[in-house]
Amino acid sequence: MAEQKEKNKKFLYESLAEEIRLKISQKVFRPGEKLPSVREMHKTMNKSITTVSKAYVLLESRGLIIARDRSGYYVRAKNYFRMKRPEKSQSNLSPKLIRRSGIVEEVLDSLGDESKVQLGVAYISPRLFPFSQYTKILKNLTQKEVRKAIVFDKPAGLLKLRQQISLKYMGLVNNIGPDDIVITNGCTEALVICLMAFLKKGDTVAIEVPSFYGIFTMLENMGALVLEIPTCPEHGVDYDALKKAVESKEIKCCILNSNFHNPLGSLMSDSKKQKIVRLLNKHGIPLIEDDIYSELYYEKQRPLPLKHFDAADLVITCSSFSKTLAPGLRVGWVIPGNKFKKEILKIKSGMSITTSTLDQYILAKFIETGLYDKHLRRFRNILRKQLHLVVKAIDKYFPKGIRMVIPKGGFLLWIQLPKGVNSVELYRNLLPEDIVILPGPVCSSSEGFEDYIRLSCGSLFDETMENALKTIGHHIKISMKNR
Ligand SMILES: Cc1ncc(COP(=O)(O)O)c(C=O)c1O
Repeated sequence: MAEQKEKNKKFLYESLAEEIRLKISQKVFRPGEKLPSVREMHKTMNKSITTVSKAYVLLESRGLIIARDRSGYYVRAKNYFRMKRPEKSQSNLSPKLIRRSGIVEEVLDSLGDESKVQLGVAYISPRLFPFSQYTKILKNLTQKEVRKAIVFDKPAGLLKLRQQISLKYMGLVNNIGPDDIVITNGCTEALVICLMAFLKKGDTVAIEVPSFYGIFTMLENMGALVLEIPTCPEHGVDYDALKKAVESKEIKCCILNSNFHNPLGSLMSDSKKQKIVRLLNKHGIPLIEDDIYSELYYEKQRPLPLKHFDAADLVITCSSFSKTLAPGLRVGWVIPGNKFKKEILKIKSGMSITTSTLDQYILAKFIETGLYDKHLRRFRNILRKQLHLVVKAIDKYFPKGIRMVIPKGGFLLWIQLPKGVNSVELYRNLLPEDIVILPGPVCSSSEGFEDYIRLSCGSLFDETMENALKTIGHHIKISMKNR
């Protein structure tokens, strides 16, 4: 009954969104024009405030309208096509070794170069991190605290930090406490430890493609076989393809990034998360969840982790402070669950004994004084604005025919280029202009995605960034002429 009601509600906001979309295409609402406020729409259309708000959010995610701070929703000056759902035929259900040309190394090599406009790496400008507060914490450390912070702690990590992290998961993960957390050197080590727990050379792992490029390097190093599961910017991983894969192949574990996926920016619905966890639980397949972007949400609350739906203790959550607070401190964590905790701790201690105590101590202080939450509130707001400024510049400078979905969190934009424009060529043409973008093939285990680029909106939007976007648009137009 409740489920049916929920379905009807969904139908209402979707059909309202469709009505508004029609009005936009008929130019009743013109490009650049302000849309009626949620309240006005609620009165004139006789729909609830929630229905109108959801319809606007849906249209925004489809790139048809844009929210401006304290001003309301506007019809986007240039409308984008929605990205297509992955085609079923793309789902190639044969596990294969990762096969990548030198493009990944080439791109990674240009990433740290400060003389270039860095739109390629999932980088956040240091100016957006609260370094004055760090300095204050560091300056105020007492001798006694420093003495404690320069000695070894347990492999699981500093209790003080584990306590703070477990508090952040209250209500998201059942009965979580400090003993359910293992601190790691960033999310990278967290993921490597989990992969080592489940995979031997030649084993098969199911993974969304495209995905974060680092994960392919980890799997390549391990000699694992990958089974590529298609995924899309609007809905996340293709459930049917995943089901087919787990029912027909021997899969040792699955890796998913359900909240603000890298590179797609997609956010999976709760019902889909539940369905996926149920499926993997039923087949006894461990699920490694990469949850690194979840705190960067632009809607009301943090999306649920997949672990929330885990009835069989088979989901392991990995995350870090790299995207929210301090990538250089290299502090992350694993929530291994009871089943795998011993194994995860064993691998962690064999790998690096423990994580830097001083770094953990600083982070614990940062969180317990309330500075972290305060910083996050401000940070989310800034990133959301940055994202919209980049989208506005794309509206202005990129040619017609690109496709993208505006994410509801994170700071990455996955963009499909007009037909015939090659992203690796575009990347190479932009290097002499001192601009770095991420070409799509970097995010795949076997190249492909030549017509996609990923842009990061984590640098401060200024004249240099706007000019860089203008130059990218110009080069796309040149490639279109030459195709
Ligand atoms: C999805 C995803 N997972 C993991 C990482 C690596 O995180 P860390 O820097 O904490 O090792 C990144 C970094 O870009 C990422 O985007």
